[in-house]
Amino acid sequence: MVRIAEIVGADNLLVGDAVSERFVHIWKTHIPLAAVAVVTPTSVEQVSAVMRYCHQTGLSVVVHGGLTNMVGSTETSGIELVISMEKMNRILELDVNSKTAFVEAGVILEHLQEEVKKVGLMFPVTFGAKGSAQVGGMIATNAGGLRVFRYGMTRQWVLGLEVVMSDGTVISGLKKLVKDNSGLDLKQLFIGSEGVLGIITRAVLRLSPASGGRHTAFVALEDFGQVLVFLRSMELTLGGALTAFELIWKDTYQRMCGVLKGGGIPLAFGYPLYVLLEISTSTGGTSPNLLEQLLEKYLEEGIVLDAAVASSESEQNRFWRIREDVDHLVSQCTFDQHFDVSLPIADIGDYVDGIRRNLDAEPGVDTYFVYGHMADGNIHVVVSKKYDSVDLIERVNNLIYSPLTNYGGSISAEHGIGTHKKAYLPYCRSKEELDLMRRLKGALDPKGILNPGKII
Ligand code: MLT
Ligand code: ZN
Repeated sequence: MVRIAEIVGADNLLVGDAVSERFVHIWKTHIPLAAVAVVTPTSVEQVSAVMRYCHQTGLSVVVHGGLTNMVGSTETSGIELVISMEKMNRILELDVNSKTAFVEAGVILEHLQEEVKKVGLMFPVTFGAKGSAQVGGMIATNAGGLRVFRYGMTRQWVLGLEVVMSDGTVISGLKKLVKDNSGLDLKQLFIGSEGVLGIITRAVLRLSPASGGRHTAFVALEDFGQVLVFLRSMELTLGGALTAFELIWKDTYQRMCGVLKGGGIPLAFGYPLYVLLEISTSTGGTSPNLLEQLLEKYLEEGIVLDAAVASSESEQNRFWRIREDVDHLVSQCTFDQHFDVSLPIADIGDYVDGIRRNLDAEPGVDTYFVYGHMADGNIHVVVSKKYDSVDLIERVNNLIYSPLTNYGGSISAEHGIGTHKKAYLPYCRSKEELDLMRRLKGALDPKGILNPGKII
């Protein structure tokens, strides 16, 4: 530790109680962090020197960002050094002409969104954990979220990356270029790699022109067939202006509304399905009336059963809070297990009916919540269990994952693999693909010191 203290300075090295006062996930603050030490570097040079030391000594490393990951990607076993990016939290440049942001990995997403807004631009990737999630972690997990079907995943918004390799080599590709076909696009190796191939220290992000108006509504529907009709029709009518389309099943909506503590739920409970939708316009001139008129037409045609349009920004935020505050759902679970599957959109209704039957028949399951980014074919299931055991975890995993093979689905749409889903990768990746992942890992991290035990 003496050498590490020399590299980062005593203020940036935590040992003993200062380590166990930390945690591995923001929802699990009661579980103390187990690590040999935590370093909080302030520059890429420090990260590089720390990695040179770790490479020489064989010390394993786990990188910590905002600790909002859902699959155990930031878990430690006690023998690793944790590198926390919290002090590398500066926005180094906002370039309004190139529409880029040059940022350190520890910048919090919400802070970035706010700063970018001030210069009339937008960073469109967003999700419920935006107040804690850090840009480096978003890139390392290729985060998705609430507007993917309009704006894409984090990958689409990364123009340049700086990465520290396992031996301390710095690969610096911090260009602002939208077009760059000069050989292999190396940054793609690290986007979504969950820290097993390199450590992301800085990034150039692409920005979008800010949208003018944003209008939000909750809609109730009879069945999944109607949701498909409604989505297709809204997309045809609104084109790119439809920016979010979140589907929530009946009981889940009721539980989610609990976050408002009785204060004005948008739509009555009891409808089979609810959609939270958002339209955004670049003109700034569109009024909520447009959305109201449109939804009235769908009501008259019987496609939707009920609808509520938010009439103010604070009401919009209230509507979004219902969907974004997953923490509220989790706090009601005794032993929670999270799922993030994707499959062709048209099959979602059928798939969910099937897993509901499976979960209802499992005695260890207390209750479950189903919701998701339907327009991306991405469904989340949170299962609350009566007890925890390895057997039950495996049984529940199989109930959710095994039907996916029939639909050509994926066990992870946006949360990644980490440790929690590793055993289930063969459900959606071939042996040859997994072999190639292992070969890449071996080539880039021959000593296996970067985020050991994750993904592969
Ligand atoms: C979300 O969609 O809110 C996040 O992916 C977290 C989750 O619900 O699993
Ligand atoms: Zn999600």
